[in-house]
Amino acid sequence: MSHTIPATLIPGDGIGPEIVDAALTVLDALGAPFEWDTQIAGLQGVKSAGDPLPPETLASIRRTRLALKGPLETPSGGGYRSSNVRLREEFQLYANLRPARTVIPGGRFDKIDLVVVRENLEGLYIGHEHYIPIGDDPHAVAMATGVNTRQGSRRLLEYAFEHAIATGRKKVTIVHKANIMKALTGLFLETGEALYREKYADKIALETVIVDACAMKLVLDPWQFDVIVTTNLFGDILSDLVAGLVGGLGMAPGANIGTDAAIFEAVHGSAPDIAGQDKANPTALLLAAAMMLDHVGRVDLGTRLRGAIDATLNTDNVRTGDLGGKAGTKAYAAALASRVRNG
Ligand code: NAI
Repeated sequence: MSHTIPATLIPGDGIGPEIVDAALTVLDALGAPFEWDTQIAGLQGVKSAGDPLPPETLASIRRTRLALKGPLETPSGGGYRSSNVRLREEFQLYANLRPARTVIPGGRFDKIDLVVVRENLEGLYIGHEHYIPIGDDPHAVAMATGVNTRQGSRRLLEYAFEHAIATGRKKVTIVHKANIMKALTGLFLETGEALYREKYADKIALETVIVDACAMKLVLDPWQFDVIVTTNLFGDILSDLVAGLVGGLGMAPGANIGTDAAIFEAVHGSAPDIAGQDKANPTALLLAAAMMLDHVGRVDLGTRLRGAIDATLNTDNVRTGDLGGKAGTKAYAAALASRVRNG
């Protein structure tokens, strides 16, 4: 079991380098098998190489087909296109898997254990947008086009059903807005229902819910959900909501799974408001690293890492500020590393 697995490491922007350092401290203590190739992207890429997604970074992921990524800054409004979206397109990372599980008991919502599977390449995220000028207002009208395909919907839905069954889940909920966006999200719903009848009806339960009702139900009674599968924008919004149910963005990992590669990251962004202050919570990135270990067949190490996180937060009571604790990023990482070493 001593062979190493090449993997690309992108520290990213804002709190990225701090949480990646923390993650490496813990992964080293764990004896994780990754042989890292460190690359740049995002704002760091623009500053150092004049490109938010330099060719060397793409070449590295093309070689390793596996990456752990810190958050990448994207300017709002104008500026360059999101490197995250470009990475998803480049490597056809069509499934975005975002599990939410209560790690710290006693919060507003206890015993949460659900997964959002978000379509990652289509919908309103494709960035086909333009303005129509009227008179002297160049931005008088804004337009966006969403694109969903039967093939893209089907492979994502298939991934969600297969993942749900493989992980012992009981129910899949397709979330849509087919009452209003009858074509765009109607196609997703129709494809999901047909796929279910064709392949999964005797294996798992299915329900369908409109996105606005889903948001309300998630807040009133999140325990009724198991695996939620939905289109790109709805998945983006609902997975942040779901992260809120388990203690906030500091606790929410994500995996971008595709035919050509898999990229693991925290759901949160670069948190510029706390960058460089030793305040960031690296747990989300570490939970993403645990998913990465599962993905490469080292479920033993993934499970040990999740156990160490649980023990550090709940038995040792070492927590970062966002979880009401006093530990800095480095002190928390050191506590985790010692838990990993000593059990
Ligand atoms: P954000 O997720 O960076 O921050 C939202 C709030 O949560 C802030 O108050 C922040 O301090 C807090 N927070 C986030 N992560 C935390 C952590 N690990 N520990 C403690 N507190 C944490 O969202 P925001 O401010 O909207 O975005 C900042 C930048 O990040 C933008 O440029 C955005 O485009 C980018 N972004 C990148 C993502 C990625 O690379 N996957 C995902 C989301 C946003």
